[in-house]
Amino acid sequence: MPRFDRRRFLLAWLRAPLRIASITPSGPRLAGLMTKEISTLTGPILELGPGTGVFTAALLERGIAERDLTLIEYERDFATLLQDRFPDARVLHLDVREMWKTALSRSFFGGVVSGLPLLALRPDDVQALLEGCFSNLRPHGAFYQFTYGPKCPVLVEILDSLGLVSKRIGWTLRNIPPAAVYRISRRYQPMALIEQRRA
Ligand SMILES: C[S@@+](CC[C@H](N)C(=O)[O-])C[C@H]1O[C@@H](n2cnc3c(N)ncnc32)[C@H](O)[C@@H]1O
Repeated sequence: MPRFDRRRFLLAWLRAPLRIASITPSGPRLAGLMTKEISTLTGPILELGPGTGVFTAALLERGIAERDLTLIEYERDFATLLQDRFPDARVLHLDVREMWKTALSRSFFGGVVSGLPLLALRPDDVQALLEGCFSNLRPHGAFYQFTYGPKCPVLVEILDSLGLVSKRIGWTLRNIPPAAVYRISRRYQPMALIEQRRA
């Protein structure tokens, strides 16, 4: 982890504890779990709440080109840092609740990687967020979300109303705090993909 990132994170958390939701950036183990299903075949990635860029760096290691990354970050200091660190990525200093009102609408992403503290958002906002993401995701695209809690942070009612399902694809004790990763995807998917996941 680059020098000073822990301190940056702690200072950001002191300013906005609910929005930052952790006193330290995610560790490499969680970053590996969040990105394990992503490859060069996935296509452009939308990352929400990248913070200091731990998952962003893992996405580059998976072979995603920097120019295929769109990063949405609310904290100005983090957004500036991300643009310095990933100069070819598209970094937008925005609240995710506003992002579909911008040039982002009608994008075509292969996946969404979310570090957002979803439990701090209102259910209506979570519903609108997922609806927007899936309207701009390719048919096989998935939304990856981690949580420190015991279950998927998206209410079943919201998933059902949008025709989505969630599956826990991993968890780790080697993170502060320990965390689990969920894949949220469309309930009905082409057979080829389902068979690929079973294999
Ligand atoms: C738990 S931290 C995760 C940071 C990073 N992904 C990691 O795992 O180290 C949550 C991040 O989401 C960002 N965030 C929270 N609410 C947001 C919102 N409404 N719009 C954009 N970013 C938001 C915070 O600024 C912070 O960077």
